[in-house]
Amino acid sequence: MDEKQLADIVRKVLEDMTGGAAKSAPAAAKPSTASAGIPKTARVAMLVEKEKYEIKEYPLPAVGDDDILVKVEGCGICGTDAHEFKRDPFNLIPVVLGHEGTGEIVKMGKNVKKDSAGKDLHIGDKVVSCMIFKDNPDITMFDLNKQNVGGADVYGLLPDDDIHFNGWFADYILIRGGSTVFNVSDLDLYSRILIEPCAVLIHAVERAKTTGILRFNSRVVVQGCGPIGLICIAVLRTMGVENITAVDGEQKRLDFAKEMGANKSVNFKDHKGIENLAKAVEESFGGHPADFAFQCTGSPVAHSNIYKFIRNGGGLCELGFFINGGDATINPHFDICAKEITTVGSWVYTLRDYATTFDFLKRANGIGLPMSKLITHTYPLEEINEGHRTNLKMEGLKIAIINK
Ligand SMILES: NC(=O)c1ccc[n+]([C@@H]2O[C@H](COP(=O)([O-])OP(=O)(O)OC[C@H]3O[C@@H](n4cnc5c(N)ncnc54)[C@H](O)[C@@H]3O)[C@@H](O)[C@H]2O)c1
Ligand SMILES: [Zn+2]
Repeated sequence: MDEKQLADIVRKVLEDMTGGAAKSAPAAAKPSTASAGIPKTARVAMLVEKEKYEIKEYPLPAVGDDDILVKVEGCGICGTDAHEFKRDPFNLIPVVLGHEGTGEIVKMGKNVKKDSAGKDLHIGDKVVSCMIFKDNPDITMFDLNKQNVGGADVYGLLPDDDIHFNGWFADYILIRGGSTVFNVSDLDLYSRILIEPCAVLIHAVERAKTTGILRFNSRVVVQGCGPIGLICIAVLRTMGVENITAVDGEQKRLDFAKEMGANKSVNFKDHKGIENLAKAVEESFGGHPADFAFQCTGSPVAHSNIYKFIRNGGGLCELGFFINGGDATINPHFDICAKEITTVGSWVYTLRDYATTFDFLKRANGIGLPMSKLITHTYPLEEINEGHRTNLKMEGLKIAIINK
């Protein structure tokens, strides 16, 4: 199967999902000429060594027949970027990072007509990218038996090459043929920057639903109120789950969890020992343990604790360990076997989850959840080192680079 066939299949699947957006009137043929004002050179923020970005200027690359040149508006700093910045665990340096980005199409190749969901694409449309197919059918995710996009390449985690414009921490990015790209012109800038982390939670809740335990009236614990836990609460709220208790040790984050839709919060620092903590969680549900729990911290202790919050026959979604955080101790008799807990793991997302996320963001905004408040700090590209340092200090929630 070649790239084009793959792209066609994915487009067809997503088109069916989105009710045939592709059936809308075809776009008037657009010449693949540059819109006015594209400079000859532009900047990228290149991570040149650990904890050091340098702003570098390169000639903008040629836009091939299947490519899209996007003028970047902004990009969130992800936990993965923080790890790269600090330790380069993926051995990518020198690299242009940034995968939570969005921007405006300024030039398109003559073969580019529609996005990966079948929506028309025009110069001026706002887009996000997802993964890159290349020629590997195993990562395409139109196969519903595949659980996530693990193994796929994404812009923002590609090694540097002659093109250089490979990540969203830049003035421009070149989206090449064989990539997934979505037209999200109907979402505001902050919502677009939040798409990637929100897709993680859409996926986690989809995984949780496969247990059959998560229902409208479930009592749900969300442990960890960083961006991941907070978005988890928002996703649960938009799907009608109302009985949510947030657990964290940071009071400010717990207060924000309530704004996001949790009706109770438990600060673990107020309760000595796991028995007392479990009791506090139970009290938050009027004396009942939780039906379902989402584990949204990277702390092994938190993993060990969470079983104690869940009722017999309840469910658990563990999504906090995107990277290896070490081993956790549990007692298989008390924690899993005797309680008959159903556990699912969740990692990244599928292409379908990406499309679902656009609607989730509209619903969340529609019911008044303060999604945009998740972005607590913004920095221009030339201050990206400061942005990363603020992120490492954990002073805010989501830090974003916003281009002028
Ligand atoms: N499954 C995935 O695909 C995926 C994707 C992205 C991130 N993640 C993971 O999700 C986790 C959370 O991400 P984030 O950006 O929200 O991180 P974060 O560090 O901002 O938030 C973690 C929160 O957990 C709290 N916490 C720590 N120990 C705790 C404990 N024992 N009990 C209760 N709360 C505790 C912290 O106070 C903090 O508020 C990370 O570990 C990350 O690796 C997973
Ligand atoms: Zn991310």
